[in-house]
Amino acid sequence: MKILLFGKNGQVGWELQRSLAPLGDIVALDHDGAPGLSGNFADPESLAATVRAIAPDLIVNAAAHTAVDKAESEPDFARALNALAPGVLAREAATLGALLVHYSTDYVFDGSGDAPRAEDAPTGPLSVYGATKLEGEDLIRQSGCRHLIFRTSWVYAARGGNFAKTMLKLAAERDKLTIIDDQHGAPTGAELLADVTAHAARMTLAQPELAGTYHLVAGGTTTWHQYARHVIEHARGRGRAIRVAPDAILPVPTSAFPTPAKRPANSRLDTQKLQHAFGLTLPAWQLGVDRMLDEIL
Ligand SMILES: NC(=O)c1ccc[n+]([C@@H]2O[C@H](COP(=O)([O-])OP(=O)(O)OC[C@H]3O[C@@H](n4cnc5c(N)ncnc54)[C@H](OP(=O)(O)O)[C@@H]3O)[C@@H](O)[C@H]2O)c1
Repeated sequence: MKILLFGKNGQVGWELQRSLAPLGDIVALDHDGAPGLSGNFADPESLAATVRAIAPDLIVNAAAHTAVDKAESEPDFARALNALAPGVLAREAATLGALLVHYSTDYVFDGSGDAPRAEDAPTGPLSVYGATKLEGEDLIRQSGCRHLIFRTSWVYAARGGNFAKTMLKLAAERDKLTIIDDQHGAPTGAELLADVTAHAARMTLAQPELAGTYHLVAGGTTTWHQYARHVIEHARGRGRAIRVAPDAILPVPTSAFPTPAKRPANSRLDTQKLQHAFGLTLPAWQLGVDRMLDEIL
């Protein structure tokens, strides 16, 4: 099987290079591409020639404009990366009969209420990032290509920077921390996303009726404040030098940290559809976070 992977050096792309390897021969590209092969999502039409040259059975798109606040001031660029480029991949996948795997986000929802959202819940993005990701989803669905769209949230990886590493640094330097406590979601590891992707893609290639849109996040729910406390207490338990006392990690509302892009307060996603379709159990978010912490500590 031939696999074409875009965004190979991102959090998820890096893990996909590992998890997809047993499925077949991978051509993995970053935005610089390879000789004769464009991987540049800022030039969406250039990707068509790449797909035609490789003629893959499976296209996996881990590239995106993920700088949520920056997207507010460069909406056309965000739209090229998050909507138009995936649209070109979908059109080419449809022509080729390839399966397209793509990632989307909890930010397609408005974050109202406190119930977990199912895949068919009404969307209502609050930001340019959310709106462009939703348009990308729509272009893929409209293209008629076989696809898997995985909506996920709060992605982290051991490689590169992440929320947990920032908290550990601040916890070692400061006497007091204030962390947002009114956004609810599930931290989801790039490893988990990549492993589930390989499993689901393999099943969908054999059973095309499994294609569709799925919510894919780790089990359980937390807030950024609870997440930070978990990370800091785990590190303290491992003997890491932590300055901040547990009761000096204080919860604050989102309004305490104004940002250009509005975030949904409720990012809870219902994953029953995915677990049932692919016979999987999504582990509690703490499992992946603790593994990542043990790796970096
Ligand atoms: N991060 C999250 O919390 C989160 C939450 C929900 C959903 N998601 C979705 O999950 C997917 C993977 O996210 P991630 O966290 O792995 O993102 P990431 O680490 O920010 O990686 C994004 C990738 O996109 C690539 N990229 C940026 N500009 C590009 C361009 N012009 N052309 C081609 N590639 C370009 C980057 O490549 P370079 O580094 O080479 O520029 C990088 O490899 C995305 O679809 C994202 O929307 C992420």
